Amino acid sequence: MDISGNTIFIPGATSGIGLALARELATRGNTVIVGGRRAEILDEIAAANPGIGTQRIDTTDPASITEAARTVLEAHPDLNVLITMAGIMRSEDWTTPSGFLDTAEATVTTNLLGPIRLIAAFIEHLRSMPDATIMTVSSGLAFAPLRVTPTYNATKAAIHMLSESLRLQLAGSSVSVLELEPPSVRTGLMPGQETSDFAMPLEDFVAEVVDLIATQPDATEIQVENVKFLRYGEARGDYDQVVATLNSRDPHGR
Ligand SMILES: NC(=O)c1ccc[n+]([C@@H]2O[C@H](COP(=O)([O-])OP(=O)(O)OC[C@H]3O[C@@H](n4cnc5c(N)ncnc54)[C@H](OP(=O)(O)O)[C@@H]3O)[C@@H](O)[C@H]2O)c1
Repeated sequence: MDISGNTIFIPGATSGIGLALARELATRGNTVIVGGRRAEILDEIAAANPGIGTQRIDTTDPASITEAARTVLEAHPDLNVLITMAGIMRSEDWTTPSGFLDTAEATVTTNLLGPIRLIAAFIEHLRSMPDATIMTVSSGLAFAPLRVTPTYNATKAAIHMLSESLRLQLAGSSVSVLELEPPSVRTGLMPGQETSDFAMPLEDFVAEVVDLIATQPDATEIQVENVKFLRYGEARGDYDQVVATLNSRDPHGR
């Protein structure tokens, strides 16, 4: 993916990584449209960032995805990058159904079905563009499990394998598949995460991501240095130690 000259839709960018990345990509010469459920936040973003577009979307709702895709593509027929950023992360207790079932279903719907439905809504348009990118968003937890968030870990592992598989299907087409693999980053994803010592400052993370895109336009995965501990445990042969360290250093998993 080139670092500039794109038209980019980021559903899941009213806060956190999505919003910070949207702002940075806008300063790098891209047209950016941010999406999310919170209409009042979208209005605030539009007012504070002239040049950044906004689109209300609930990625758990197929009708909302269809309507948002229609509206965004009508306004931006040159759209060539979709970043499936929207995600939720919840603690679960799998010892009783009431401790996990609702959360598990909501997490699968947002983190896995959401990106699948978004890609379905945009794939034909993206294939018609000369140079397009689908950026998926997995996690370091796709590669090493955090005890308290089983369904989150599972959905992110699924996003990793979906990205690998789509890349094979789309090989030779104009659409590249790029997987963003964040480590723990200071956002509001989970309670306490914004101030966690174990999480990476948001600005540092986004700066490193943008630098990687700029210097490695043909990469298939965006891996900041901090994620490699989790990402390559199995390959290095220290997976058991990685899992133990991950789950001992912070019981809430940040
Ligand atoms: N922060 C980390 O440590 C970390 C690590 C690895 C991966 N990630 C991934 O990075 C992505 C962004 O997370 P974040 O850390 O930036 O957390 P965040 O600040 O909570 O951002 C989550 C975003 O997703 C949106 N969203 C959630 N459900 C949605 C829905 N049903 N429809 C539309 N938008 C929805 C939220 O917007 P609305 O509430 O306005 O809808 C918000 O903009 C997630 O996929 C997360 O799993 C984060």
